[in-house]
Amino acid sequence: MKGKEPITVVTAYDYFSAKVCERVGIDMILVGDSLGNVVLGYESTLNVEMEDMERHIQAVRKGAPNAFVIGDMPFMSYQISDDEGVKNAGRLMKAGANCVKVEGGLRVVPLIKRLVDSGIPVMGHIGLTPQSVNQIGGYRIQGKGEDAERMITDAKSLEEAGIFSLVIELTVEETAKAITKSISIPTIGIGAGRYCDGQVLVWHDLLGINDGKIPKFVKQYANLNSEIEKALANYVKDVKEHTFPQEAQIFREDR
Ligand code: KIV
Repeated sequence: MKGKEPITVVTAYDYFSAKVCERVGIDMILVGDSLGNVVLGYESTLNVEMEDMERHIQAVRKGAPNAFVIGDMPFMSYQISDDEGVKNAGRLMKAGANCVKVEGGLRVVPLIKRLVDSGIPVMGHIGLTPQSVNQIGGYRIQGKGEDAERMITDAKSLEEAGIFSLVIELTVEETAKAITKSISIPTIGIGAGRYCDGQVLVWHDLLGINDGKIPKFVKQYANLNSEIEKALANYVKDVKEHTFPQEAQIFREDR
């Protein structure tokens, strides 16, 4: 699709959201380790375990049997050794993923070669890599100044190692554009501007199911948060005032 048609990716974590993504024709579903922040309530993605990823990939696969599903490799599932990385990638594939996503540049090249040799397609992820947030010193915009060259080198090395696509996160637009031009595989941007080959947003962010700080790069296509709050407030009111359930919601012996 590179150069022909922009690619749509949504990060989704469960059966229902996967079902909707498949129905509307989202090109790829990412079961991201942002699961940790968005669904499990952690401060970062570092606490996400292999078992969490497996369970949510299984749920997404059930909801979207025909979709292309990306399984995110969680923190410490591939950093200890390449052998462990291959074994854990295999677990995500068995859970229902079509490929895995790995954060990092040159450092993960040997692992990517091993995964690709094992028949596992790999998506790369550079720019802001949340699993290294403690090393980077926070959720900072990447690819500024000399950092741009380093990112381009990383992208080329990852392509050479065999990745089929590359996520670029929270990166200045000019750098993401230069990377997109310098490699032949599709780039998928999140907070990386207009010139990537595709875009990814998190289900909750794009639907406005989020009462925290909304990042600048997010476009909210709905405000479900306020709809949900209104609905719940009405439910509470109805129950307290004995106006729910009513005739339509009750069972009788003769019906
Ligand atoms: O976990 C995730 O949702 C991601 C995207 C931000 C690319 O990695």
